Amino acid sequence: MSVNVSMAAIPAAVTDFIRGSHKLLIDGKWIAPASGKTFFTHNPADGRKLADIAAADAQDVDLAVAAARRAFEDGPWSKMTPATRAKLIWRLADALEAKAEEFAFIETLDNGKPLNDAKVVDLPHSIEVLRYFAGWCTKLNGESISLSNPGTWHAYTMREPVGVVGSITPWNAPLMMAVSKIAPALAAGCTVVLKPAEQTPLTALKLGQLILDVGFPDGVVNILTGFGETAGAAITAHPGIDKVTFTGSTDVGRIIIKAAANDFKRVTLELGGKTPVIVFPDADIDRAIEGAARSIFSNAGQICNAGSRLYAHRDVFDRLVEGVSRRAGEFRVGPGLEASTQMGPVVSQEQLDRISGFIASGKSQGAEVRAGGGRIGTEGYFVEPTVLTGTRPDMDVMQHEIFGPVLCAMSYEEADLDRIAREANSTSYGLGAVLWTRDLSTAHKMARKLKAGTVRVNGGGLDPALPFGGFKQSGWGRELGREGVEAYTELKSVAMAL
Ligand code: NAI
Ligand code: MG
Repeated sequence: MSVNVSMAAIPAAVTDFIRGSHKLLIDGKWIAPASGKTFFTHNPADGRKLADIAAADAQDVDLAVAAARRAFEDGPWSKMTPATRAKLIWRLADALEAKAEEFAFIETLDNGKPLNDAKVVDLPHSIEVLRYFAGWCTKLNGESISLSNPGTWHAYTMREPVGVVGSITPWNAPLMMAVSKIAPALAAGCTVVLKPAEQTPLTALKLGQLILDVGFPDGVVNILTGFGETAGAAITAHPGIDKVTFTGSTDVGRIIIKAAANDFKRVTLELGGKTPVIVFPDADIDRAIEGAARSIFSNAGQICNAGSRLYAHRDVFDRLVEGVSRRAGEFRVGPGLEASTQMGPVVSQEQLDRISGFIASGKSQGAEVRAGGGRIGTEGYFVEPTVLTGTRPDMDVMQHEIFGPVLCAMSYEEADLDRIAREANSTSYGLGAVLWTRDLSTAHKMARKLKAGTVRVNGGGLDPALPFGGFKQSGWGRELGREGVEAYTELKSVAMAL
């Protein structure tokens, strides 16, 4: 990609931060990894080296877990009132809001996403998640329980923090993911050891600085940068961790379940998806076209619930495919810092190769490329927004998460809701589903039939109050909402003879 004059100027504070030395946040201090090892990250827009990062290992995990344990058991954190915890989390939200511009630039440089997306999606959502969960600190109640023999016993339940939480996050929305794990854990009274993805660790490190600035006690949040097979595996195996919360691939989710089985760690998993977008003939087709295009091309398709399978009734199929293919051609692909960019590069050479491999496999199995299908340029990791037709349910592109801007489109013949739902449910995933229809009855009937954690009808976004998670191999448990904070608690029953 050629450097354009409309490229946003990077603030000096951002350059200074990225070039600075990056250490591990353990027990309220920035310290070098025990091994002394480092690695570096790339700017996905040009493939060049971006920052040197500390590579944490098992020894560093030991230190971080010990610090988190002290802060949880003896430290000021466990003695702090919920209202004071709420105030600290809210202060973190304010601090993040004050630095939102810097964070947006760092996210774009590290992950590749358009600066405008970082500004209008990632930052506001992260700030809102913090504020939303700050509110929960003071609202985690148990219940008084009506027993079968009232009058002789009295019983109630209460919610206690689960303890030390290990959080492992991915690279597609780095800050949002880090905040979505930290905020509910802190609200519940837990302490945290966070390992951000090795591709995109910078905004988590910058958040660590704010966590210190606003006055969280030492050891409450520890941040270890490093690789999954070393730092991540040490976290999931550590006997001092009470719960693991993970967002990433289904394969690693499986590894985590096995590691957690030893000592029955609590586990929350947000894994892959293969979200179907089902268009009924009565839908507002223009809106459905725009919605379907945004759902798969936003963030270059690197969203767990990206609408990656399009099912449209045969009467509207051609119009849909033409419309989405036209939008694919119009999407301005370029460096995230360029003002006109609507879709940035994918995060890494590895993801570029993976996506290219899926497109090639689709073609070799008989799919037709209706838009895109190739790489753009030779510098950076740019993929064309792609639409495939002639895809059959048994093809790899229809069964696996591509995690790129690739839509597979199929038509269906008749409006038999059970058949459509069977088709939509025919992958191992169950994260999301999208419906486009103006018929209330169709919408509600289909919402029941779909095996998906979230069903969206005619659009609808992400909200901190709305539980999010997957059926089937898309995960365990829910994040966000009341369920999202309760997932960081243990329920205790107290029974008393009167
Ligand atoms: P990944 O699942 O390997 O990485 C996610 C996180 O898990 C990173 O922090 C990584 O360091 C950590 N990790 C990796 N191996 C680990 C292990 N053995 N123990 C503990 N932690 C470990 O995902 P990857 O390789 O970056 O991407 C591969 C595919 O995964 C993508 O193409 C996409 O299909 C899927 N994915 C899904 C995401 C989602 O939001 N559901 C996010 C990222 C990837
Ligand atoms: Mg991996």
